Amino acid sequence: MTEQPASLKGLDLLAEIDRLKRERNAVILAHYYQKPEIQDLADFVGDSLDLSRKAAATDAEVIAFCGVRFMAETAKILSPDKTVILPDMDAGCSLEDSCPPDQFAAFRAAHPDHIALTYINCSAAVKALSDVIVTSSSAEQILSQIPAEQKIIFGPDRHLGGYLARKTGREMLLWPGICIVHQAFSETELLKLKAEYPDAPVAAHPECPPHIVDHADLVGSTRAILDFALASPAETTLVATEPHIIHQMEKAAPHKRFIGVPGGDGNCNCNMCPYMALNTLEKLYVALRDLEPRIELDPETMAAARVPLERMLDMAGGTVGQGDVGRPKLAGD
Ligand code: 13P
Ligand code: SF4
Repeated sequence: MTEQPASLKGLDLLAEIDRLKRERNAVILAHYYQKPEIQDLADFVGDSLDLSRKAAATDAEVIAFCGVRFMAETAKILSPDKTVILPDMDAGCSLEDSCPPDQFAAFRAAHPDHIALTYINCSAAVKALSDVIVTSSSAEQILSQIPAEQKIIFGPDRHLGGYLARKTGREMLLWPGICIVHQAFSETELLKLKAEYPDAPVAAHPECPPHIVDHADLVGSTRAILDFALASPAETTLVATEPHIIHQMEKAAPHKRFIGVPGGDGNCNCNMCPYMALNTLEKLYVALRDLEPRIELDPETMAAARVPLERMLDMAGGTVGQGDVGRPKLAGD
């Protein structure tokens, strides 16, 4: 944990966060890539789809979103009357950065016979220019509901789009964005691990490039990876996504071994998301205390972005986020 700023010295942060949460009638939502101490105090931990559903269904007045900005913006778009706070407003995403709204609008205009199926990892302005939003856990199901003759632009993640195209045989025009974290996984390091643990299955996120995904026994969202690792009879699982998710695996199955695939040459921290890492307990405390930084979006953009997001929730079906269902707190909570 980082050292506490002088002004917060002596505070029992966990107790203070709990007190403020009750005072503010707040719910704390966290993504699986958050630091363990944040995952452990959250009311709900999930993948992007689960978190969107939860944000749309909560009764709380304040949503404290421990994730990245596009996730908190999604919560605001789906619950516009609620106050949505993000501990660090600089928690962005390389996929969002790769897709500036003006360039995306020009790309759409150049292909007027295509609809835009857009990954949720993008700005509210890009969502507003899209027809249907997808997450990694809902993309295939949604794609299967779009008539075969309909031409599709898929952005901003070219690896997720390419994976879907290969798996379904559906041709799509791909926006050339990437996730800097999943792009960095090393095939060499993965092959070394596979040689060392020949019985270990590999679970990979579809944001990984083909040279990683092609070695995977399961390709899926963070929640799908977690479910797979817990259900697998194997003693060891190799995990090709941001390694903070391993915290949930170790809590639920302490007798098993989960190994994060390294990035780069195996000696860097480049398999960790630098944006997710910006959120800390201290910043969460301050955000709950001050109700800042908070997500503010212009009403027109919000209204336009809500349409493709609601289409996603309709087309993805399911019940997560309604009431208290969804991925529950795991063993040891
Ligand atoms: P999930 O929807 O799988 O949680 O993905 C979120 C994300 O940002 C992965 O990099
Ligand atoms: Fe964006 Fe990649 Fe971080 Fe996910 S892991 S938030 S896609 S930069």
